[in-house]
Order: sequence, then C-alpha cells, then structure tokens
Amino acid sequence: MSNAAPIAPVADRSDAPLHVALIMDGNGRWAAARGLPRAEGHRRGVDALRRVVRAAHELGIGYLTIFSFSSENWSRPAAEIGDLFGLLRRFIRNDLASLHRDGVRVRVIGERDGLEPDICALLNEAEELTRNNSRLTLVVAFNYGSRQEIARAAQRLAREVAEGKRDPDTIDAEMLGQYLEAPDIPDPDLIIRTSGEQRLSNFLLWQAAYSELVFVPMHWPDFDKAALEGAIAEFARRERRFGGLVAKTAS
Ligand code: FPP
Repeated sequence: MSNAAPIAPVADRSDAPLHVALIMDGNGRWAAARGLPRAEGHRRGVDALRRVVRAAHELGIGYLTIFSFSSENWSRPAAEIGDLFGLLRRFIRNDLASLHRDGVRVRVIGERDGLEPDICALLNEAEELTRNNSRLTLVVAFNYGSRQEIARAAQRLAREVAEGKRDPDTIDAEMLGQYLEAPDIPDPDLIIRTSGEQRLSNFLLWQAAYSELVFVPMHWPDFDKAALEGAIAEFARRERRFGGLVAKTAS
C-alpha cells in the first residue's frame, strides 16, 4: 500500500460525458446470426446511428464521434466497400437536412485523398452547411486511421522544421496535438465499442489517452438510447484521475 493521500470524494463530478466516441462494431455478425447479407447489417447499422444521434441530443452530449470507415477497411471485399460508401452517400443525402434542422454540426476526419470526388463533395457539403450549428457536433471518422493521422501531423511538423519555420526544441505533446485533424474538438471522455471486442483498432489513439472505455456485448444494429444510457451510467461510476490522485471531470 502506498502512503499517498486518499482519493478525494468525487462530489464535483459531472455524470454526462461531453464527448462520446463510438466504434460501431458487429454489423456483420448481427446479419449472419439472422441469415442476412452483411449489407443488411450495415444498413441496420445506419438506423442505429440515427437513433443514437437523436439520443445524444436528448442526453446533452456535446460531441459524438463515429468510426464509420477505417483506413484498414480497404482490405474488405470490393462489394462490401461499395455498400459502405453507398450508405455514407445515402446517409448524407437523406439525413443532412434534418441534421441541420436539429442543430447538428458535422465534421469529418480522415484522409480525403483517394476518395471518389462525389464522396468528397458530399463530405464538404455536410461540413459547410452545418458549420455554424452548435447543438451537437457529429464527427464522422471516414477513411480514418489514428496512426496515419499522427504520421501526417509529424510530417507537417518535420516540413516546418526543414523549412526553418520551427525549432525542433519547441515540439511537445501539446503542439503535436494541434497538428492533428480536429484540434478544437475536446478529447473523448467515453469511447464505446459494441460487439464485445475489447480494442481500439487504430481509432483516436492519441485522443484516447484518458478516455474511459466501455465495451458492450450487443452488436451495433441493436444499440439504442437505453444502451447509450447504460454506457454513460458505467462512465459515471468511473473515477477519472488523469494520472493524478484526485478525481476530476474532463472539462
Ligand atoms: C463494423 O461492423 C462496422 C463497420 C466496418 C462500419 C460501420 C458502419 C456503419 C454503422 C454504417 C455506415 C454508416 C455511415 C454513416 C457510413 P463489421 O462489419 O466489422 O461487423 P463484424 O465484425 O460483425 O463483421
């Protein structure tokens, strides 16, 4: 046992996470369990996403980040990649107006180079239309990989050093963080992964340094407001000390 002072009571802890990030896993297994094609699992995954965006509003969450296509998902069969891109196209075309009406600001992180021009145009349109909204920020991680994001930040910094614009001694963690894709968005307080897998799979590795991780056994298409509330209740039971001794809130 250490002689450290006892951990302070957590009376000032707010129960609601400001930023929730979601690894929406298990669409394929949900479909397989029902004898349905994987595409149907993804389609039902979009229905779950709609429910959860609405629930996030109602629960007062400020930022919701969704892992909708990872840099590593390119290794899937071309038909499935086509299905996922089709769902993104339909999600933006069908839902953008109502997201805008509901005060949702859409942000997109991930590599745009190499995406089809119409996808890039839709992502830009979603960001442009909703840029002044403030009720909920929906961060769509599309063609996203965290190691790639960190490598791009390092590359930009290295270029500035090579051009004589930056002294390498000034580079610290805070500065590198400013070179990531959305430095204005607070780190996630809570990361939820569905389907029982317990890993981050190259999602927000830098930003997750002090995130609480909650793994739920249900597959993503079954996720709903009650499941989100359950994960938030679990989050509220956690004691966040950010490496110190005293429990703190994230903000
Ligand atoms: C994981 O399930 C899920 C994905 C790879 C993509 C998540 C995408 C959606 C929920 C729908 C798309 C939403 C938008 C906005 C494009 P999995 O296929 O890995 O499932 P499995 O592990 O059971 O095979």
